Amino acid sequence: MMSDRKFPVLTIDGPGGSGKGTICQLIAKKLGWHLLDSGALYRLTALAADKHGVDFENEGAIEVIAKHLDVQFLPLEKGGVEVVLEGEVVSDEIRTEAVGSIASKAAAYPKVRRALLERQHAFAQGPGLVADGRDMGTIVFPDAEVKIYLTACPEERAKRRYLQLKEKGIESNIELLLEEIQARDDRDMNRAIAPLKPAIDALIIESTHMSIEQVMDAVLGELERVSLI
Ligand code: DC
Repeated sequence: MMSDRKFPVLTIDGPGGSGKGTICQLIAKKLGWHLLDSGALYRLTALAADKHGVDFENEGAIEVIAKHLDVQFLPLEKGGVEVVLEGEVVSDEIRTEAVGSIASKAAAYPKVRRALLERQHAFAQGPGLVADGRDMGTIVFPDAEVKIYLTACPEERAKRRYLQLKEKGIESNIELLLEEIQARDDRDMNRAIAPLKPAIDALIIESTHMSIEQVMDAVLGELERVSLI
C-alpha cells in the first residue's frame, strides 16, 4: 500500500529475544534512518510506574504515567542511545527481563497503548524510519512499505537474551529466562488489543539457524526488492 509519506517506513515485529533490536539498530545505522524502539517506551512506562509506586492493576494510573513520560533518547558516539528517564540514565535497567515482564503487563492495557501511539508516530521522519516492536506493521504503521516478522524458537531466544545480558555485565539464569520469555510470548500473543502476530503482508523470517549477517541480508534484500534502497 503506498502512503502520502515522502519517506519509507520499515517495520520489524516479533517476540522477545528474536534479535529485532540488534537488526533494527544495524539497519538504521547502515541506511541513516531514524529508529523507533517501541518496546523501550513500554519498558519505560512500566519502570516509571514502578518507581512511582503505582498499582499495576490500575490502568488509569499507568495511562497517566505513559502520557507524561519524561524521557530522552540521547545518541551515543559509539552507536546506540542513552536512555534517560526523569533525568536518570536507565539504559541497562530497562533491559532486564523483570522490567520486560512488567512492560508486557502494562502493554496489555488499551489506554496505555493509546497514550503511546502519538509518541510513536512522531518518530516517523525523513529520510526513513525503522520501527521495532510487536504491532508496528499491524497497528502503528499499517501503511509501512516493508514489513518483517522476525522470530526464532524460544530456546534460541532465551540463549540470545542470556548472552546479551551477559555482555552488559548482567548475570541471569537461562532456564528462568526461557520461562519468562514463554510467559511473555503468551501474554503478548493472546492479549485482546494489538496482539503480537505477523501483518498479513509481512515477510516472515525464522532466524533460529541464521546469523545476524544472514538476517541483515534477508532484510536488505527485501528493501532492494521493493526498490527502497
Ligand atoms: O521488545 P521489548 O522486549 O523491549 O518489549 C517489551 C514489552 O513491551 C513486550 O513484552 C510487550 C510490549 N510491547 C508491546 O506491547 N508493543 C510494542 N510495540 C513493543 C513492546
